[in-house]
Amino acid sequence: MNPLVPEPARVVERHQAARDIVVLRLALVEPGARERFDFRPGQFNMVYAPGVGEVAISLSGDPADELIEHTIRIVGRTTRVLGRAAEGDTLGLRGPFGRGWPLHEARHRDLLVVTGGLGCAPVSGAIDYVMRRRKAYGRVTVLHGVKKPADLIHRERFDAWARQPDTRVLLSSDTADRSWRGHLGVVTGLFEEVDFDPRRTLLFLCGPEVMMQSAVSILRRRGLPLDRIFLSLERNMQCAVGLCGHCQLGPAFVCKDGPVFPYDRIGRFLREGRL
Ligand SMILES: Cc1cc2nc3c(=O)[nH]c(=O)nc-3n(C[C@H](O)[C@H](O)[C@H](O)COP(=O)(O)OP(=O)(O)OC[C@H]3O[C@@H](n4cnc5c(N)ncnc54)[C@H](O)[C@@H]3O)c2cc1C
Ligand code: FES
Repeated sequence: MNPLVPEPARVVERHQAARDIVVLRLALVEPGARERFDFRPGQFNMVYAPGVGEVAISLSGDPADELIEHTIRIVGRTTRVLGRAAEGDTLGLRGPFGRGWPLHEARHRDLLVVTGGLGCAPVSGAIDYVMRRRKAYGRVTVLHGVKKPADLIHRERFDAWARQPDTRVLLSSDTADRSWRGHLGVVTGLFEEVDFDPRRTLLFLCGPEVMMQSAVSILRRRGLPLDRIFLSLERNMQCAVGLCGHCQLGPAFVCKDGPVFPYDRIGRFLREGRL
């Protein structure tokens, strides 16, 4: 694959996950293209809407699946057009780009995953990966927060993870209605419910930077070393291959050095201030 030229990809399945969130499952059209497209959870594609533009979107599915899954929040010009794509339409994909979650390093350790809002998309493929190889990992705890119950997408995935052995899933919402069965409040409020061993736990974080900073600060006080914390970042992307400089954060290019970073490498460059 030429990293600068989008490959045609057909929309095979489209699912409206929430009012402003669409899940597209795509098939690469060229013969042999899917076999060559080898990705790790946490990496991303540049998704191209022909004649409109392209945007960075995480790979939210499991690498073992034949179809390539993207979960897209409609926020502006290009995502609006992608959100209107119908089954049978052809889009373009460039990728996979960047570094994914350290799933090899996490083997035989406990995993604490903390996500907020659409932040579950870049990490849900990683959790599916762990669940398919459950015995290779220790205790898994997933904490996910949304602003309101209607923002909770991939509910069936959270339910499926919660049924796995030695796995705990806790959900929180800033506001609640009668249907809400989870906790009320911000996701970091769930830490009070969670016990973890800082010596054998890796933390995967994904969501708004202010939430991630707050989570790091609380969990650090509970003894989690900074080098066991990994987070996925978003910056404006253009080339996605380390050429244009649009995604720079301190000395790092988010497109090729990230989007998943060890916190001890990138934490001090984040906008929300130092810990
Ligand atoms: C590595 C990476 C992974 C991503 N994964 C996903 C994903 O899985 N699903 C998803 O829906 N989105 C994801 N994004 C964000 C997505 O790229 C932006 O929402 C998209 O570029 C917006 O394009 P647009 O043309 O629709 O909006 P625009 O018209 O360009 O902008 C609309 C609004 O969104 C803001 N915006 C634009 N780009 C970004 C960005 N990168 N981060 C935050 N705000 C932005 C703009 O400031 C503006 O306020 C990811 C971004 C990165 C860098
Ligand atoms: S997007 Fe061009 S250098 Fe990262």
